[in-house]
Amino acid sequence: MVHQNMKPFPKDFLWGASTSAYQVEGAWNEDGKGPSVIDMKKHPEGTSDFKVASDHYHRYKEDIALFAEMGLKAYRFSIAWTRIYPNGTGEINQKGIDFYNNLINELLSYNIEPIVTMYHFDLPYALQQKGGWSNRETIDAFENYARTLFKYFGDRVKYWLTINEQNMMILHGSAIGTLDPNMKNPQKELYQQNHHMFLAQAKAINLCHEMCPNAKIGPAPNIAYVYPASSKPEDILAAQNFSSIRNWLYLDMPVFGRYNSVAWSYMEEKGCTPTIQEGDMEILESAKPDFIAFNYYATSTVAESKNNTSDKNPIGDQQITIGEPGFYRGVANPYLEKTQFGWEIDPIGFRITLCELNDRYNLPLLVTENGLGAYDKLEEGDVVNDDYRIEFLRKHIEQARLAISDGVNLIGYCPWSAIDLVSTHQGFSKRYGFIYVNRDEFDLKDLRRIKKKSFYWYKNVIATNGERL
Ligand code: BG6
Repeated sequence: MVHQNMKPFPKDFLWGASTSAYQVEGAWNEDGKGPSVIDMKKHPEGTSDFKVASDHYHRYKEDIALFAEMGLKAYRFSIAWTRIYPNGTGEINQKGIDFYNNLINELLSYNIEPIVTMYHFDLPYALQQKGGWSNRETIDAFENYARTLFKYFGDRVKYWLTINEQNMMILHGSAIGTLDPNMKNPQKELYQQNHHMFLAQAKAINLCHEMCPNAKIGPAPNIAYVYPASSKPEDILAAQNFSSIRNWLYLDMPVFGRYNSVAWSYMEEKGCTPTIQEGDMEILESAKPDFIAFNYYATSTVAESKNNTSDKNPIGDQQITIGEPGFYRGVANPYLEKTQFGWEIDPIGFRITLCELNDRYNLPLLVTENGLGAYDKLEEGDVVNDDYRIEFLRKHIEQARLAISDGVNLIGYCPWSAIDLVSTHQGFSKRYGFIYVNRDEFDLKDLRRIKKKSFYWYKNVIATNGERL
């Protein structure tokens, strides 16, 4: 639709930016923090670990002052479960509570709205050793952790996100470091874990509504509209099927309290339906999210499966579709350009995804990640000319405004990332931030903060409420 009269961004629009604990904080074993699965994983050769990251744990005041200077209305960050409960359960680590109390208070002192992800890939290693999400005890551990978060921070945090990208942990666990390599029957076990995460999420949603009646809570999957490679009906079917497996499974459950039927048939075909205990479906039906948060990087394009191994893309990750013989085949979209890291760039797909989510679920939408990973260059005089990032974000914000004009109830936009951090699977050189952190993959240098060109650009976008892009 071409709009003659574009709607403005709402007055209280949450212009924000995002990070996650293990990617930005560092201090991986300080002040009583326990190890998480991310701390214990092997890192791909040539990429940094997460031990120091951007050293935000020690520099959060300086960072928040910069966020305030940029004009952020909201900051989306995650709480490291292992700072609160070093072993996942048991004794609370007071120093962990203190850190996030200070962080939240610092944000509020600048009128920046905290948006908190409760769990962003970093499951406590102690729980992993007892089976992780395959073990139903992890559901109880998460519920207990959620109760603690609501008790200590619920008086000030109004926006909660349950689990970051549950769908990517199931579909691309090996790329993001959450897949246990010792699993005997990975697919069967993964969908059992998925069921347990749904339950944990439902319990957290109910608890939040009970303990923090003024707060809002929602899931935070990675959602990408799936295009068919052509108008061939077989391609369209493949796209529908993949979309159910990749997207709708993860939203039909929290919103409608049921398994998406195509995704369920897929699990039946693969012999990996989860065991559902008595009472589970009642819990799942009872929890209703207040909004949908989602991460968007690019759309995905699939064709009919050729039923052979060429269906499987060996370099698949969160945004590069792997494909599955007998179900769908990931293909490149010839209309789209790619980032330096091979991810397709599709701003119009962003509008399409927003409209589709709005049509299917009719809930407020909050974008919790969107951004461009690139090799930025620090030039003389502490300058980073990241015009490509500005271009990327500008085009996406234009499409967000078009989606609002289409009638989508979009309440906020939090690009990835507020500040440079360690990429989930491609080290520190893949930078996303508005603020440059002076370190390399292995040389920590002085970690000083430098405002990129995109910092000043985004500041102006926020100051004009998205009018001047
Ligand atoms: C999302 C994650 O999958 O994508 C982030 O929620 C991640 O943690 C982001 O950093 C970008 O992916 P990557 O692998 O480029 O860091």
